[in-house]
Amino acid sequence: MMQPTAIVYFLTLCGFLSAATVNVTFNNLQELLSTALNDIENVDVNLNTLELIKKAGYPAEAHVVLTEDGYLLTIHRIPGAKNSPPVLVQHGILCSSADWVVIGKQRALAFILADQGYDVWLSNFRGNTYSKAHISLSPSDPKFWDFSFDEMGTYDLPAIISYITNLTSEPLHTYIGHSMGTTTFYVMAIKRPEVAKMVRVMISLAPVAFVRNLRSVAQIFLPFKNSIEAILYSLGVHDFIPLDGVFRNIARMGCNVNFFTKQICSTIIFLICGFDEEQLNDTLLPVILAHFPSSTSTKTLIHYGQEMISGKFCAYDYGREKNMQMYNATIPPDYDLSRITVPIALIYAYNDLLATEKDVKILRDLLTNIVDDYRLPSLKFNHIDYMWAQDARTLVYEKILEIMKKKVN
Ligand SMILES: *[C@@H]1O[C@H](CO)[C@@H](O)[C@H](O)[C@H]1NC(C)=O
Ligand SMILES: *[C@@H]1O[C@H](CO)[C@@H](O)[C@H](O)[C@H]1NC(C)=O
Ligand SMILES: *[C@@H]1O[C@H](CO)[C@@H](O)[C@H](O)[C@H]1NC(C)=O
Ligand SMILES: *[C@@H]1O[C@H](CO)[C@@H](O)[C@H](O)[C@H]1NC(C)=O
Repeated sequence: MMQPTAIVYFLTLCGFLSAATVNVTFNNLQELLSTALNDIENVDVNLNTLELIKKAGYPAEAHVVLTEDGYLLTIHRIPGAKNSPPVLVQHGILCSSADWVVIGKQRALAFILADQGYDVWLSNFRGNTYSKAHISLSPSDPKFWDFSFDEMGTYDLPAIISYITNLTSEPLHTYIGHSMGTTTFYVMAIKRPEVAKMVRVMISLAPVAFVRNLRSVAQIFLPFKNSIEAILYSLGVHDFIPLDGVFRNIARMGCNVNFFTKQICSTIIFLICGFDEEQLNDTLLPVILAHFPSSTSTKTLIHYGQEMISGKFCAYDYGREKNMQMYNATIPPDYDLSRITVPIALIYAYNDLLATEKDVKILRDLLTNIVDDYRLPSLKFNHIDYMWAQDARTLVYEKILEIMKKKVN
């Protein structure tokens, strides 16, 4: 069940940041959520990604991909016609393949891509709802959760991309990553260039490499700079963030919603990082909340936390001694972005408090093969709108299609 401490971490991760923005809509949202939670049993909340795809009238497949380090990832596919170009859509932190289909036909990215004749693949990183399996480790074993976004980039993406390109005998036409789906791609392209070669072009939605401008939040941790990990663990957040299904479970238990509303709403603040009320469809909220948040390892959050403090885009910091063993250096090595050769398109937004324009600029200056650099014209568009905005199609997906049709070298 939900751990309040996990919520504390979310709040620090993004809630405090947007407190000013949130205040305006907080009361409305609280009402909205109570309604949503009461409705949660009535809608498509019990459907998984496959069922959501089928319900929308598309063919759906699930494939299990084995990583070199033994994780079993379940990825989803809306198969295209023979020889249709494969496209991989990769979710961000606490998300899953479901987030690309929940807003439905004509609206959700996965369906729009399928309608355009692409062979659509929606993957799931280790540790999320669909990928909690390993050939020898059980998810109840803390060792299962000993990974951060580094391992997702080093092992998950190579396994997934090789699987797709092998099965379709085509290079990956486009990799579309959102948030952590971009972080992990950069890690992969640096550490596994032979895999990156199989990708024609990469589109970064809300690119996250540097998180320097989340530093204001990290200041909370500054007095404890060397022991964030110890603090989190002492708070009781051990292996992973056990939030998947939290909303469904609350509804199912018939708990007094009002009792929870306060805490839930606090949790939800991170959902609202730069909340854009106009773009969130009330009817769909229960469905969205049934799939979001998914789970991930605590180590992933700690890794991002370390970057907030260091201002760097670098490997996990184990502390001097263990760094020496792991990296032959007392500090973790930077990820060298200049080594990435895959053509990359950057798409970001003014009101995105997690992938800030300032941080995107730092990234842009280090990348050497940028094919498009696009700040969305909407002043309200934010981090979650890439998945769930009612008008995501006109706001951003049309732009994605345009980039996909361009020739790149
Ligand atoms: C939040 O809203 C309340 C009332 O709606 C107002 O009194 C308060 O000043 C607002 N806080 C901020 C930080 O805007
Ligand atoms: C690629 O496909 C072949 C035959 O279908 C199979 O034997 C091989 O193991 C596959 N390789 C990968 C990396 O999936
Ligand atoms: C909200 O989503 C529902 C269910 O998909 C849809 O029927 C409705 O038209 C949407 N509302 C708006 C304002 O787009
Ligand atoms: C470790 O680093 C030292 C100094 O930078 C270098 O001389 C040595 O070759 C490195 N050892 C390994 C195994 O890479």
